[in-house]
Amino acid sequence: MIMEGPLQKAPVGLYSRTTLDLSGEWQYIVDPMQEGLHLPRKGIRHFADDARPKGNRLIEYDFNYANNIQVPSDWNTQVEKLFWYEGLVWYRRTFEYEPNNQKKQILYFEGANYWKRVYLNRTALGEHEGGFTPFSFDVTDKLKSGRNSIVVAVDNTRRSHQIPALKFDWFNYGGITRPVHVFEVPKTYVSDYELSLQKNGKILATIQLAGDKPKNQSVDITISELNIQTSLVTNDEGKASIELTPQDLQYWSPQSPKLYNVTIAKNNEQITERIGFRYIETRGPDILLNGEPVFLAGISVHEEAIGAIGGRAMTWAEARALLMEVKALGANYVRLAHYPHSEMMTRLADEIGLLVWSEVPLWQSLDFDDPRTLQTARNMILESIDRDFNRASVIIWSVANETPQTESRLSFLRNLIDLTRARDPSRLVSSALDKNKKVGNTIHVEDPLGEFLDVYAVNTYEGWYGPRTPSQIAEVNWSSRYNKPMIFSEFGAGALKGHFGDADQRWTEDCQRAIYQQTLMLVDRTPTTRGISPWILKDFRSPRRYHGLYQDYWNRKGIINEYGQPKLAYEVLKKWITNKVESQQSKAK
Ligand code: GCU
Repeated sequence: MIMEGPLQKAPVGLYSRTTLDLSGEWQYIVDPMQEGLHLPRKGIRHFADDARPKGNRLIEYDFNYANNIQVPSDWNTQVEKLFWYEGLVWYRRTFEYEPNNQKKQILYFEGANYWKRVYLNRTALGEHEGGFTPFSFDVTDKLKSGRNSIVVAVDNTRRSHQIPALKFDWFNYGGITRPVHVFEVPKTYVSDYELSLQKNGKILATIQLAGDKPKNQSVDITISELNIQTSLVTNDEGKASIELTPQDLQYWSPQSPKLYNVTIAKNNEQITERIGFRYIETRGPDILLNGEPVFLAGISVHEEAIGAIGGRAMTWAEARALLMEVKALGANYVRLAHYPHSEMMTRLADEIGLLVWSEVPLWQSLDFDDPRTLQTARNMILESIDRDFNRASVIIWSVANETPQTESRLSFLRNLIDLTRARDPSRLVSSALDKNKKVGNTIHVEDPLGEFLDVYAVNTYEGWYGPRTPSQIAEVNWSSRYNKPMIFSEFGAGALKGHFGDADQRWTEDCQRAIYQQTLMLVDRTPTTRGISPWILKDFRSPRRYHGLYQDYWNRKGIINEYGQPKLAYEVLKKWITNKVESQQSKAK
């Protein structure tokens, strides 16, 4: 639920702005009974009231005597007694600030899981729901000169109307899991800018101003390398659009991830972004990148750092390490499952050259009949698109993963698909389907949702889940009612690194390798396939993986373990992907 008030659409271009980064040590208080959220009991002040007790007034909490916790982080991997905690935790940070009263001040959260209420200097600013997208507040006139105090209530309790809902196969890391910033903008400022290459070779540029006087303002766009320098004037909504004609444009692609310096400037503000230009479309069963057929050869990734800890927060170095593992496979593509990853990941994908499937966490069963669920899903997809619109790497918005074939799910997802297409007609819409019809050895795709997707994706675990052995995958084939591009968005098996045995023996590296070998042959004999993102690059923490020897609360379907050590399947996949990418590049020449 989003409250009215200072909560606002997060301005884009965070990494191009000068910010006060509030990462570092915050204090925290665990509040399992949500006591601090309720109206103050007589004498017990509201947890948000970070003030000093006066006289003999009783308070039974005090952030100045609370323990410290790092932001960004999750509490689960930072505080041992909170490893399994699901509930409310209060965060508090004080900081010195000298607001420039000629400017507006923005308080910007890159992400926090799951539900938050934010207070600044004892004033409630608003609430936000959703663990993986940015949100921000206009805190002009609420920041003081000198000491300021931010208090944030963060609750990662799972609830049936939330997204994801009560059950999902990743760790429910709670906390302020991404950085927090304060920055200043002019009284009238650039809140959004979107540049996308059109099929006609022109760049459609749209600028949005916000603040006091957004209309009839002059804004300049400069892309020096393309010999573009132009001025626009905003309309009554503070918006201006133009089609730019670039000279000698070098299209962005995974093998040539060219980024241009784009500067958006107005009288007292200048933002410089690095943006790549490419266009993506489908034609019958083909996906075309810059007009050429492309096969998306990659792998799925959860946002969890390599190493024994895992955890939800990553440094730039850890994010880069994760994506370089994908690149090392020879991949041109990565499925950032199952939720919007941090902005670092999509910016690094732009730089490294990986096409991206971005996804909102509508995972399996949700309450498709609850209007709150639909509102949350709509907010999530819009917040995700708002943040990443200028990321050339992002080519697919996925609206769901493995959802049941019910009427309420279909109308819910059609609503979300329509919203996604209206908001961003420059990208493809997809979803991972797994309720496919098995007739003998044929798996037939006829999920009605497929009719509304640009690309449909299928998750299949033949040889792992169900009765078939790895060698019996050879009997399986796929068919579909849709003449559209198809992606095998998941396949794979669990394996404990260092555990070897017969290829039919589950949990051995040999078995995982056999399932990869057999499924890749299945891919080769499925002519409508235009992409793969097997499940998954790295073993990842999950509360649903209980086996004390093979799992220990880690999902072991990674082709590398949590330490980054490759399993036998790694070389099989790397060889297949490398050949696939090289063969399509030689065709293109
Ligand atoms: C599902 C699901 C994943 C899950 C995987 C598994 O297809 O999409 O989130 O982790 O299968 O069973 O390991």
